[in-house]
Amino acid sequence: MALYVKAAEILEKAEKKQGALKTLVYDSKFGNVKQLFALVFETHKFSAVLEEIIASTKLVKLTKLRLPLAKVLVYDLLIGHGLKCGGAWKAVLLKNRARLQAALARIKVRQGVSDNQDLISDSAKQQDQQNLPRYLRVNTLKTSVEDTVDYLKREGFTYRGQARTVDDLTLKGKTFAQDMDIPEILIFSPKTDFHDHFLYKAGHVILQDKASCLPAHVLDPPAGSVVLDACAAPGNKTSHLAALMKNRVCTMSTLLLRAGVTCHQLKHQDFLKVDPHSPEYREVEYILLDPSCSGSGMVCLRDDSDTDQARLSSLAAFQLKCLKHALSFPCLKRLVYSTCSIHRQENEDVVSSCLQDNTHFRLVPVLPHWPERGLKPLPQCLRASPTSTRTHGFFVALLQRRSDTDPVEVTTTDSVGDGDIVSPCAGQKRAAESECEVSDSEEQSELTPADPTEPTQHSEPAPAHKKRRKRKKRKKNKTPGESGPDSH
Ligand SMILES: C[S@@+](CC[C@H](N)C(=O)[O-])C[C@H]1O[C@@H](n2cnc3c(N)ncnc32)[C@H](O)[C@@H]1O
Repeated sequence: MALYVKAAEILEKAEKKQGALKTLVYDSKFGNVKQLFALVFETHKFSAVLEEIIASTKLVKLTKLRLPLAKVLVYDLLIGHGLKCGGAWKAVLLKNRARLQAALARIKVRQGVSDNQDLISDSAKQQDQQNLPRYLRVNTLKTSVEDTVDYLKREGFTYRGQARTVDDLTLKGKTFAQDMDIPEILIFSPKTDFHDHFLYKAGHVILQDKASCLPAHVLDPPAGSVVLDACAAPGNKTSHLAALMKNRVCTMSTLLLRAGVTCHQLKHQDFLKVDPHSPEYREVEYILLDPSCSGSGMVCLRDDSDTDQARLSSLAAFQLKCLKHALSFPCLKRLVYSTCSIHRQENEDVVSSCLQDNTHFRLVPVLPHWPERGLKPLPQCLRASPTSTRTHGFFVALLQRRSDTDPVEVTTTDSVGDGDIVSPCAGQKRAAESECEVSDSEEQSELTPADPTEPTQHSEPAPAHKKRRKRKKRKKNKTPGESGPDSH
C-alpha cells in the first residue's frame, strides 16, 4: 500500500512539473527507492495510455480512486509485475480487471502494436535515447573537488582531467572529468548511478544536471550577501547557493527563527505575497528566480501537453508577474531568471516584456563563451539543450540594476552575437529611485532573508567582476574550510 501511495504522490508532482522525477523519488526517504523509482518511472512512461484506459473504463468515477493512484495500480496490474498490495484496492482492481484488459487490448489494436513497449510515447522513447551524461555537483560545504576526485580514483574511476569542449562530455565506463564551465561539477557516463554511493548519501555530492547548476553559478552572490531564492522548492539551487556563499547564510535561519517559521514553511510561502519593502526583505541584494514552468526542457518530462497554448500563456503570465515582483526589491543588485523550458514564451518573451517596464535593470551577457544563446533579440541570455550542451533544456537570464556609470545607450556592445538588447527606453535613467544604491565598491551586507540560493559570474562588466573576484579571493584566504551542516 505504502509503495503505491508514495508512487502516486511522486507521479502527481512530477507530472505537474514540481520537480524532477528522480529527485522526488530519492528525496522521498522511501525504504526501497529502487522499487519506487521503477514503478513511478515506468508508470510515467505509459502515462498517456494509462489515462486513456482509466477514462474509457470510468475507473476513477466508479472506484473514487485518485487518478495518480489509479495510474500506478493499473500500470502494475496490466503492464508491470502484478499488484503488490492486498485489501480494498486489490479487490477493486481485480473486479475491474477484465474491462481494463479489454481497454488496453483495444488501444493496441488501434495502434497496430502487439507489444506494450510499443505504446510508449515518442517523447518517452526519446528520453531513453538521449543518454545525457550524469552530472554530479561537489558540495563544497562538505568537501572539495580535489578530495572527491581522489576518492573516486581510489574506487577505480579513471579521471580524465578538465573537459575542454562539449565533446569531452561524452564519457564511457568508469571514466569521469571535471566540467569546463562550472568547476565543482564532475561528469560521468550516462549509465553511472550514484544514488547508492556513500558520497551522495553523505551529502558530499549532489546529483544535479549541469544546466540546473547554471543559475546559482551565474548569480554568484558574494559570501555574506543577502540572497533570496524566490521559488526555492525542492531546494537544489538553494544548496548550490549556500555552497557558493560558503554557507554564510545563517541569517536565513535567524530570520526564520525570528519569524517563527520553519524552512519547510518558507518554501511554501507565496513569493508574490512577500512584501519587498518589509524589514525582512528590503535588504535583499540577489535573487534567484526559478519559477514553475512547463518543464519542456526536461528530457524525461517531455510530453505533448507542453505545447498547450493556454497553459503556456498562463505560465508566462505567472512568470512575468514573479519577475516584475522580484525587480521591485529596493536593494536588488542582480537577479537570475531561469526556467527548464524551451519555449520562447516562458523565456525571452517574459524577460523582454519585464524589461520594458523596468528600465533601471539591464541584461548582462551570461557566460559569453557558452555555445547556445537566447533567441533573438536576447543573445545575452543563454540556452542549454541536449544537442548543444549535453544537458537538459534550460534558459538563464542575468539582470543587473543599472548604475549611474552605466552607458546610457542600450543597443550595444554588451550583446553577444548579433542581436540587440531589448530595452525600449534606451538612454533613460533608472525609472525609480532605489532605496539602496548599487556600487561596485560596496561591501556585502549581513542579512539574509528567505532562501539563499545561487551564485555566479563571468558576465559582469569587467571592473565590477574583477573587484568581486579579488574580494572573493581575499575571503577565500580568510575563511577556513567550513564543514557545513546539510545545505538547504
Ligand atoms: C522550478 S521549481 C524550483 C526548483 C528549485 N529552484 C530547485 O532547484 O530545487 C519552482 C518551484 O516554485 C514553487 N512555486 C510556484 N509558485 C510559487 C509562489 N507563488 N511562491 C513561491 N514558490 C512558488 C513551485 O511549487 C516549485 O516548487
